[in-house]
Amino acid sequence: MRKNIAIDGPAGAGKSTIAKIVAKRLGHIYVDTGAMYRAMALFMLKQGVDVNDTEAVKKSAKDANIEIRYEDGIQCVILNGENVNDSIRTEEVSAAASKTSVVKEVRERLVALQQELALKTDVVMDGRDIGTKVLPDAYLKIYMTASADVRAKRRYDENIAKGMECDLEKIKQEIIERDHRDMTREESPLVKAWDAVEIDTSGMTIEEVADRITKML
Ligand code: DC
Repeated sequence: MRKNIAIDGPAGAGKSTIAKIVAKRLGHIYVDTGAMYRAMALFMLKQGVDVNDTEAVKKSAKDANIEIRYEDGIQCVILNGENVNDSIRTEEVSAAASKTSVVKEVRERLVALQQELALKTDVVMDGRDIGTKVLPDAYLKIYMTASADVRAKRRYDENIAKGMECDLEKIKQEIIERDHRDMTREESPLVKAWDAVEIDTSGMTIEEVADRITKML
């Protein structure tokens, strides 16, 4: 029996950091589904597609060839033959991914890819619709949250550590806007699955959250 773990929640709740640690402890593969939506958005931005135009996004989605490879245990997102792991981590791509991911055709393609990966091996997969749509029979489902203030501060600290200039209040506003779009869209909105365990990571350390999840297994 597969022991897949689904981790959903809003941006900055700590999903990917925790998912990577849990995957390593269990010997599972970590699958970052947000990276796939980001690659799709990057493709559209490069093509000059208006990411607010559903019809244009729908048409363009067919031309994006997204593959996932693992190199030394690290997930590499390959967009039309090119590793785009670094170029998908900009605020512009974050906002565009939140917009293009509302389109059904984009989701259908990427959900199929995600389900294929989970069939091959045990995974810890993070995203917005993993427990509700992608892996409804996951062995364990976690819904990870944190206050908008905490999430914005985490993102701010990450950017500062990378030497990027940024504004805390602007980051907070972007997070709130993205949450709203991700939670209110028609296709697979971000919601807690009925059988998911909710963890508010606001006052917790990374180790505490990872320990809490591993103890549930
Ligand atoms: O987790 P992330 O910030 O890398 O995700 C980027 C965007 O992709 C997010 O705003 C919504 C979308 N997304 C989604 O719709 N479904 C997922 N399973 C993962 C991400």
